[in-house]
Amino acid sequence: MDFNYAHNDTSRPERPSRTGCVNKLTVAGEAVQNIRRSAFARSIPVSSDETLQFICMQAAAVGAKNILEVGTAVGASGIALLQTCPSARLTTIEKNEELFGEAVQNFQSAGLSSRVTALCGDAAEVMSTLGGGYDFIFLDGPKVQYVKWLPRLKELLARGGLLAADDVLLYGWVNGEEQPPKKRRMLVEHVREYLNAVTSDDGLITYIADVGDGIALSVKK
Ligand SMILES: C[S@@+](CC[C@H](N)C(=O)[O-])C[C@H]1O[C@@H](n2cnc3c(N)ncnc32)[C@H](O)[C@@H]1O
Repeated sequence: MDFNYAHNDTSRPERPSRTGCVNKLTVAGEAVQNIRRSAFARSIPVSSDETLQFICMQAAAVGAKNILEVGTAVGASGIALLQTCPSARLTTIEKNEELFGEAVQNFQSAGLSSRVTALCGDAAEVMSTLGGGYDFIFLDGPKVQYVKWLPRLKELLARGGLLAADDVLLYGWVNGEEQPPKKRRMLVEHVREYLNAVTSDDGLITYIADVGDGIALSVKK
């Protein structure tokens, strides 16, 4: 499978964060760990321990009931979010049909299918059909599209809801810690545009957390 949709270089560890060594993954059970191990072994991109722990903690903090995820992969983060927030429902979008099929099976095996609306397709198209009112959005799809999708994501986010966009520091390329390879410069520019947009938006309160490979947290006022 080719996952070269953005910065998929799973041969390379994430940008080391200062908190990764002390943060423990407590929210994910054996099922999630097995799914993640199997995904890593096949170079399917899935969230790191630290990222998973952080987003689940954030979803619990807002008391998430209606979660949207962009980028299901094989369902690891979706399952962890649902296990953390027992009264939540999850709508999750995945473009890759093979991964989507595996995710649907994983939701079923975890006994969570009744709380999941799994949608296969391009997130831009799928999001145009959704009703909104999401109190937690995990944006974990193609980074190059984040800024383009932001207006729609804001519409879908409930007032007081939290938008968590993953991988916004991209190996230190975005904040200039490291030089991006030439072929990733455009991607880095798009992610910077996303960060500029969310940090200068009067309708959002944003904090860029140095967690995993960087997570932009934006609350809708
Ligand atoms: C980083 S992975 C998601 C990992 C997952 N959230 C987890 O932590 O377990 C990103 C996913 O976004 C999917 N994707 C890429 N472009 C997409 C698009 N335009 N619409 C929907 N999904 C897309 C990829 O196929 C990939 O599975």
